[in-house]
Amino acid sequence: MIKVGDIEFPKRKVWMKTYGCQMNYHDTERILSHLKELNFEHTEDQEDADLLLFNTCAIRDLANQKFYSHLGNTKKYKEVKIGVGGCIAQTDSKDLLKKYQHLNFAFGTDAIDNIKEMVFRAYSGDNKFAVTSWDRSENYSIETKITHGSPQAFVNIIKGCDKFCSYCIVPFTRGREKSRKLQEIVDDTKKLVEYSGIQEVTLLGQNVNSFGKDNGESLAQLIQELEKINGLELIRYTTSHPYDVSDELIEVHGSSKKLANHLHLPIQSGSNTVLQRMLRQYTVEHYLELVEKLRKANPEIVLSTDIIAGFPNETRQEHEATLELLNKAQYDFIYSYNFSARPGTKASRMKDILTADIRGERLREIQAHQLEIQEKIRSQMVGKTYRVLVEGKSSFKGETKWRGRTNCYRIVHFLPKELEQNYQWHWVDVKITSATALSCQGEVVQDFGRRLPIFS
Ligand code: SAH
Ligand code: SF4
Ligand code: F3S
Repeated sequence: MIKVGDIEFPKRKVWMKTYGCQMNYHDTERILSHLKELNFEHTEDQEDADLLLFNTCAIRDLANQKFYSHLGNTKKYKEVKIGVGGCIAQTDSKDLLKKYQHLNFAFGTDAIDNIKEMVFRAYSGDNKFAVTSWDRSENYSIETKITHGSPQAFVNIIKGCDKFCSYCIVPFTRGREKSRKLQEIVDDTKKLVEYSGIQEVTLLGQNVNSFGKDNGESLAQLIQELEKINGLELIRYTTSHPYDVSDELIEVHGSSKKLANHLHLPIQSGSNTVLQRMLRQYTVEHYLELVEKLRKANPEIVLSTDIIAGFPNETRQEHEATLELLNKAQYDFIYSYNFSARPGTKASRMKDILTADIRGERLREIQAHQLEIQEKIRSQMVGKTYRVLVEGKSSFKGETKWRGRTNCYRIVHFLPKELEQNYQWHWVDVKITSATALSCQGEVVQDFGRRLPIFS
């Protein structure tokens, strides 16, 4: 039993559902870590929980609908407390509390680290409240919290977004950009490596490569400092905006021994006129120039992107420019979505002549075209050996195999050399034996165990 003031916290269970991006998954981890201090144990079983929490995403309507229907279904639980956080809660908390009578509290994206106070309030009998104010402190300062035993960690380095792309809800749900101080991140990461066995970090932000602008620091400098940490093997970062890819950062992609051979660089559209309407602040030519420079700096680099199909009033010609862009950029994979009008954004007020059918058709065309490109790119992997960090097991075509990720972010499946061999969190070298657009199979040629040798 833990007692806070007059309130007793016996052992209870918290269930949590997370939607959206890595930022949200990491926020969930923070929440669960805080709640441990109030005697909450994490459960995957909704039926077994005393507290139900949702961490929501507002990026597209589909994500919203899934969440609303799930929240509606929790009405049957009479004895539990229910809270909703994240991007939908940031902008719509009042409506949520009004519409869902069984909902106890809602909290915004800047209130993640106040979760203990909110749960305390809920258990003190305050059954209808929202905490959505923005954090007004000058600096963004936090310490990374992890709840898992894996060697991979997300590290927040910047929050918010100042870009206001015409279609995007994020600046409204996450507020203005604010970076952590470089030294704080380095110290934080050192602790993760030293005390929690972390070997791979993913630096997180909605617009991660504008890190440090407010402090005269930069992502390139940060990576160079992190590289010096003994025991840290791999550095990733996501998500970047093409406007903020500096020459200095490109150079680091060439020189760094620890920065992953992968960059997710969302382009959104291959048409300059659509990019203008999206307010993306770059042209296709500029983007392709970045791609060329990156590949020159690091010939091993693998690129991926995000595409929005059927932006308001997109012409057939503009759509075809995106197909053409896929040919030129040669992405390893893409995330593609239909445009979804988000309330309050500029694009949602544009008069639009496209139908849902046309949008769907264009999305399918983009995906089919990319798969053809991807098939060719992946087939070139056969016969090559990749360093892989093994994440776990998964079932592939009815067969259970080990699954790991290459430095360049590709998932690789392989069978153990001996049936009992446990590769969990091992570094292994895997020789690729077959590769299609969506899967890579290989065999282990060397197993380094849980730590790479010092010389590598
Ligand atoms: N900060 C990143 C993207 C974050 S949102 C960037 O600027 O690239 C992740 C992706 O969701 C975006 O890249 C975009 O492709 C997609 N997205 C955002 N708003 C959308 C909308 N209204 N409709 C469809 N897709 C959207
Ligand atoms: Fe949204 Fe990314 Fe544009 Fe920011 S930069 S508004 S997060 S798409
Ligand atoms: Fe969604 Fe918010 Fe991330 S809207 S994509 S969870 S920043």
